[in-house]
Amino acid sequence: MMYKTILALALSLSCLALRSGAAMAEEPISPIKPPARVHLGMVELGKKLYFDPRLSKSGFISCNSCHNLSMGGTDNLPTSIGDRWQEGPINAPTVLNSSLNIAQFWDGRAADLQAQAGGPIANPKEMGFSHTLAVQTLETIPEYAREFRQIFGKDSISIEQVTEAIAEFEKTLVTPNARFDQWLLGKADALTEQEREGYALFKNSGCVACHNGEAAGGNSFQKMGLIEPYQTKNGAEGRAAVTGKDAERFNFKVPTLRNVELTYPYFHDGAVNTLTEAVDIMGRLQLGRRFTPEENAKIVAFLKTLTGEQPRFNLPILPPSADNTPRPIPFGQ
Ligand code: HEC
Ligand code: HEC
Repeated sequence: MMYKTILALALSLSCLALRSGAAMAEEPISPIKPPARVHLGMVELGKKLYFDPRLSKSGFISCNSCHNLSMGGTDNLPTSIGDRWQEGPINAPTVLNSSLNIAQFWDGRAADLQAQAGGPIANPKEMGFSHTLAVQTLETIPEYAREFRQIFGKDSISIEQVTEAIAEFEKTLVTPNARFDQWLLGKADALTEQEREGYALFKNSGCVACHNGEAAGGNSFQKMGLIEPYQTKNGAEGRAAVTGKDAERFNFKVPTLRNVELTYPYFHDGAVNTLTEAVDIMGRLQLGRRFTPEENAKIVAFLKTLTGEQPRFNLPILPPSADNTPRPIPFGQ
């Protein structure tokens, strides 16, 4: 009797395991994994650099100014504010889970995180500095000089070391353990009925054609305005600016929907403030489908389950400048 019960239990457990395993394999979105192998020393250095405004001409703007890790890795502005209060051309995407992207930027013009990280430092509309000046500044700061030497084993600092360290830190900015992931991994009560219905709508109406994989996006370039054109005053051309192919005009990297609850406003022009409106636009423009307010609310409820554990760490304490460290130029010149 006892034996039979145990056997039955074991059988039903193994069926359950098989079933949930198979079900997961079929889901178009997979759980976020913690970062594989990172260089811990380099991560600590990259974290400091990420928060260090001395990589900007003004001494005021750091990566964290526009990709604020207290706000989902974004600035929550339609377009960012750069050097001398200049208006940026496009919405700042989140850095969270950006290591999962097929390429970086809305048009994918940087192949990876290291290639990306040099851009903003020297961009006159962002940090307004130059690579040479950034490196010179770091070299005058004794604690940085020592740390770089320890990690890279070279006598002088190079911009490649700076970007490699920042990229290494960014690899740790993943957000596992979202309620949706708990559900994917078998915790049936991690989602409410409304959220599960929202996910079903998200799948069945075709959102997953573009928003799929670990990041629910970030892995392909797709046309914005597939069925109906998107009206915008923003001049961004999308992928065509990189490939020169007219057919790729208005193709953008599909944004990740991980943490999308935190990363408003939406779309490359940052023109849309709410998820309700973003879902309505996506339904009409990409799929030719009008959701009822109830359906829309279900999809929005599902999207909010994609908020994962935000990266947590002690704020890095930055080493002080030395007497000969170039001073910031916050205004003019
Ligand atoms: C002045 C605001 C600003 C600053 C400062 C800034 N960024 Fe950005 N960042 C942006 C904007 C805007 C974009 C999108 C540009 C585009 O796609 O053309 C972007 C794009 C990115 C992306 C690509 C994300 C994706 O999904 O494509 C990463 C990664 C990133 N920035 C990291 C950094 C790092 C690291 C620093 C510091 C070295 C930094 N940013 C400094 C505004 C900023
Ligand atoms: C044909 C591909 C495609 C389909 C289908 C699609 N999307 Fe998108 N989605 C995109 C692209 C591309 C963007 C970025 C567009 C832009 O910024 O101009 C985007 C942006 C978004 C955004 C804004 C994210 C951000 O950070 O700015 C949300 C939310 C979104 N999609 C949800 C959905 C939902 C919900 C559906 C189904 C109703 C859907 N998408 C269907 C390609 C698609």
